Amino acid sequence: MALNFKGLAQGAGRTHPGDPAGKTPEEQKQQQERRAERVKKGMQGAKPAAELHMDNTFTPVEYDPQYILMVNALKKYFPIKGGMMSQTVGYVKAVDGVTFNLKRGSTMGLVGESGCGKTTTGRTILRLSGEKTDGQVLFNGQEIYDLQPKQLRALRTKMQIIFQDPFSSLSPRLPVGEIIGEAVREHALVPKEEFNDYIDQVMDNCGLQPFHKDRYPHEFSGGQRQRICIARALALNPEFIVCDEPVSALDVSIQAQIINLLKDLQEKYKLTYLFISHDLSVVEHISDMVGVMYLGNLVEYGSTEDIFRNPLHPYTEALFSAIPVPDPTAKMNRIVLEGSIPSPANPPAGCKFHTRCARCTERCKHEAPRQVEVEPGHYVVCHLYDQ
Ligand SMILES: Nc1ncnc2c1ncn2[C@@H]1O[C@H](COP(=O)(O)OP(=O)(O)O)[C@@H](O)[C@H]1O
Ligand code: SF4
Ligand SMILES: [Mg+2]
Repeated sequence: MALNFKGLAQGAGRTHPGDPAGKTPEEQKQQQERRAERVKKGMQGAKPAAELHMDNTFTPVEYDPQYILMVNALKKYFPIKGGMMSQTVGYVKAVDGVTFNLKRGSTMGLVGESGCGKTTTGRTILRLSGEKTDGQVLFNGQEIYDLQPKQLRALRTKMQIIFQDPFSSLSPRLPVGEIIGEAVREHALVPKEEFNDYIDQVMDNCGLQPFHKDRYPHEFSGGQRQRICIARALALNPEFIVCDEPVSALDVSIQAQIINLLKDLQEKYKLTYLFISHDLSVVEHISDMVGVMYLGNLVEYGSTEDIFRNPLHPYTEALFSAIPVPDPTAKMNRIVLEGSIPSPANPPAGCKFHTRCARCTERCKHEAPRQVEVEPGHYVVCHLYDQ
């Protein structure tokens, strides 16, 4: 029988054919060289962060005292890690140049589909999402990203946030009085002997009874739990509150109660709100100004009256057409938005809305529209108004 010794000859010197430890020194050297080559290639394949285009240019604004909050060209990008060395290979452009000013004691409604960057805008304004990527956030004229930790801690009481899901934002192990009073005590906002009366007063302002103090969050309904969250924020005597979808998880009848409570508190304490919602009809009753957000940018901005009387941007029109009309005989010309919101990591070129816009032209696919003031204080970012 003829034996094939070729394989044996190639594997000469190995203790086991599949065992790398059994390789000859020459083979081991070659394997190491191949591995080093692969690592090098992997590093070349991943784009280093420095190559990514970060257009960090904005014109700084001067403080105007009529505004409690001035947001100028604000950007917040989240890095995407990839490649063998876990390098930054791209960015989720969650907030991509948002500009608006908010007058003291007023409310701005921020609307748009899920994933368009509303929450990130709110959190970046409050400096709750690490460092901003670019732009300015002036609170009472002070750039909040310039503050030292101690100054920021003091400012925290002035800028509060209320979340969509009141249950998960309340500690299940603390009684309600403790939840509302915890930060008051921590910041020593009232003398010890006045603490109990102060908490009673705050709870009363939010429609809660004194006996609720000793109860736990699970003993309350969704609407009452949101009242507890509002009381917790209000107890710190804030000037500005980001309300992030505060009624989205509640029944329609309860939504109105919470919105009315927020309006009453605003009047009583001269509060300023950034009211976030995916639903235009919800913001109508509370907002003085409305900003419509799409893929990290405001595409339309103006007074609530102007936006509701004369919506300009095709995206705003589509949001309006999705609002159900109570009259069953009314004819609905619903504009159906095709597909879902594109990824903010790879937004479409030109107008970011062009992939879903029924009025898209060739120009929209290549050229980003600029902001146009169509009527005083009513801005839109769309080529249709840029003639
Ligand atoms: N911490 C994070 N890291 C990476 N991506 C994030 C982070 N937070 C939000 N995003 C992304 O940013 C985009 C905007 O999210 P978000 O601000 O929550 O939108 P909205 O509140 O309008 O639903 C989404 O694509 C989301 O996945
Ligand atoms: S710029 Fe063009 S694609 Fe964008 S919203 Fe206007 S019409 Fe539609
Ligand atoms: Mg959100």
